[in-house]
Amino acid sequence: MPPHRVSRRECASVASNLSIVVRDLHAVKSIKQALEQQGLFDRARKITTRPHHTQQQQQAAADSTAVSYVPVLASFDAASLPADLLESIELIASNGSAANGDQVIAFVADGDLCNAQVIPPSDSDRIAQALLRAGPSGCYVSDASCLVPTRWERLGDVVLFPHGTFGGLDGAEKGGIVLRELAKGLGVKAVGVQGEIEGPTRDSKAVLMWGGDGWTTHRENGVVYRFDVTTNMFASGNGTERRRMAEWSPPEDCPCQPSETGSVVVDMYCGIGYFTLPLLALNPRRSIAKVCACDWNPRAIEAFRASLPLNSIDDLDDRLEIRQGDSRLLGLPDGPDEAQWSDTADRVLMGLIPFCWDGLPAALRVLKRSGGWLHLHGNAPDGREFGERVGREVRAAVREGEGENEGEGEGEGEGECASCEVCVCHVEGVKSYAPRVWHWVADVWIRREQTNG
Ligand SMILES: C[S@@+](CC[C@H](N)C(=O)[O-])C[C@H]1O[C@@H](n2cnc3c(N)ncnc32)[C@H](O)[C@@H]1O
Repeated sequence: MPPHRVSRRECASVASNLSIVVRDLHAVKSIKQALEQQGLFDRARKITTRPHHTQQQQQAAADSTAVSYVPVLASFDAASLPADLLESIELIASNGSAANGDQVIAFVADGDLCNAQVIPPSDSDRIAQALLRAGPSGCYVSDASCLVPTRWERLGDVVLFPHGTFGGLDGAEKGGIVLRELAKGLGVKAVGVQGEIEGPTRDSKAVLMWGGDGWTTHRENGVVYRFDVTTNMFASGNGTERRRMAEWSPPEDCPCQPSETGSVVVDMYCGIGYFTLPLLALNPRRSIAKVCACDWNPRAIEAFRASLPLNSIDDLDDRLEIRQGDSRLLGLPDGPDEAQWSDTADRVLMGLIPFCWDGLPAALRVLKRSGGWLHLHGNAPDGREFGERVGREVRAAVREGEGENEGEGEGEGEGECASCEVCVCHVEGVKSYAPRVWHWVADVWIRREQTNG
């Protein structure tokens, strides 16, 4: 949004939603404490941290830096802050709501208005405003700040709140006006609540409480995903891992110093294309030659195919093969790939939680005979423990695949493997999954002895 200059008078007249803009993020805590002591901190609003573009940066579309907005009461006066803290506030902002809900942020340095810009309100502001608008006839009335849900997920033009928000599904009817205002305020076509993701097909059980259908077009990391939020799951928290997989190359500091770069990838649990789409859309053609993707959920495959043209990927692209079926049978004549993917992959993605051990024999069949990389997902309390378990499971699966007996390889310790080298090179923490349980991904390098046939 282009910067918009305001006069000093305008600046003063919009001082009812006053915030202090703090550039030094380390100073935010002490400024908040000082404001609280003086009764000037506005408890009805949250401290938010947002990117800040200077006027020049905006014009040049350059990188942004983050600043914190500390809400203060209208009676705030900069002189009431201790002098040492004042030094941390390089900018002081008066902001107020414009008619369309945008906030006018006016920057004042050394008492002089130096710049101003219009920024759209945060989703949190929009939700609070919608709840207040719905107030007179809605059921979530009186003090909107107490009712603003603290978590939600925006997936394209649909917003999902945690299960139980708005009093659960029973609240849907009486909350109709509230939901309509929320949808209007957030600029989305539908509002719903999340459901448990469970069962072998990991379907979404989200329920829409306002709005017609759940099909949405969601953008993340420059990739477009088309899916139905009421059927297909989408874990927003896994965005960094999706990008990591797309940009991944073998780590240089890995003790086994592998040389393969991973140009053929098998995605064993592709779902709606969580990893395959970024791999194809973000990766230069020279580093990913082909992705072979499998999932047994027809609803996920349907959504996956709907996303392809939105990412300029042709369904008939020779870089992509999609198969529907049980990926544990991959690499077998009666498997979904009819054994065609056998001994082809440089990398195998095993994106299934809580554990993907069941898929290890198939992963080792599709991995090149000489070896390659596995990316194994799993839930565990800590990464080191997960990495150790991964090492044991992979060595056992290689041994089993090679027909080695438990007793073979005398002198080897538990989990050793006579015919292979297995190195758990890296364990990546994806996100917190439940209290004291994390979702991890282990990048594992395998080198196998070449056997004839
Ligand atoms: C949704 S993704 C998981 C994404 C993310 N890593 C997570 O679990 O939150 C898991 C996918 O694996 C598929 N799946 C699970 N077991 C499978 C199997 N044996 N064969 C093929 N697909 C399977 C499910 O249908 C689902 O689409």
